[in-house]
Amino acid sequence: MTVTRPILIAPSILSADFADLGADVSAMMAAGADWVHIDVMDGHFVPNISFGAPVIKALRPHVSALFDTHLMISPVDPYLKDFADAGSDLISAHVEAGPHTHRTLQAIRALGKKSGVVICPGTPASAIAPVIDMVDLVLVMSVNPGFGGQSFIPSALNLIKDCRAIIGDRAIDLEVDGGVTPANAADVVAAGANVLVAGSAAFKGGRTAYVGNIKALREAAHSGRGRG
Ligand code: DX5
Ligand code: ZN
Repeated sequence: MTVTRPILIAPSILSADFADLGADVSAMMAAGADWVHIDVMDGHFVPNISFGAPVIKALRPHVSALFDTHLMISPVDPYLKDFADAGSDLISAHVEAGPHTHRTLQAIRALGKKSGVVICPGTPASAIAPVIDMVDLVLVMSVNPGFGGQSFIPSALNLIKDCRAIIGDRAIDLEVDGGVTPANAADVVAAGANVLVAGSAAFKGGRTAYVGNIKALREAAHSGRGRG
């Protein structure tokens, strides 16, 4: 299947400088990144706590790019309005976060935001099929969610392919998150993804390295196009 949606790089602010977040993320966008990937963790759905809606609200005036909010929380629904009001443009929730994913996606769209469904490496791709017409994005995890800096799980490539087959030619982005580097970006794109999240690989080396980091990811990603 030919994927024609643009290849986008979405740095995860989990790896950014929290003490100087506005300037650090601004530097990353000036270096050529496309979206801002925002990892929200609750210490319950995943074994780690990151930050909540007030941090997103504080960052919003500093950056005009799309805010791609990845909620690793359960329950999800009571907090959706907070994340929408804070300035998220796209809000994604895990299929594993509760029994009512369809309701959650309805609520995200009712708030006027783009919706995404997220799937973990151990969940069959078929879990997204019932909600596929409720989403603007499918996010495939290539690590077990909870921490930055983990290694890419190779079987995620099969999950990407299976999710791509379910998406078909719908106008839906397929994003991959976890352990993405220039060494595996081509495989990720060849499997059918078009949005690449990168935490460590985007922010490593500090601000003077950002242009090179984004360029390396983008070039590797483009080399996987049409190779599937
Ligand atoms: C994992 C997060 C990822 C992660 C990406 O739970 O959803 O976004 O921070 O970081 P790297 O690229 O370092 O794996
Ligand atoms: Zn994420």
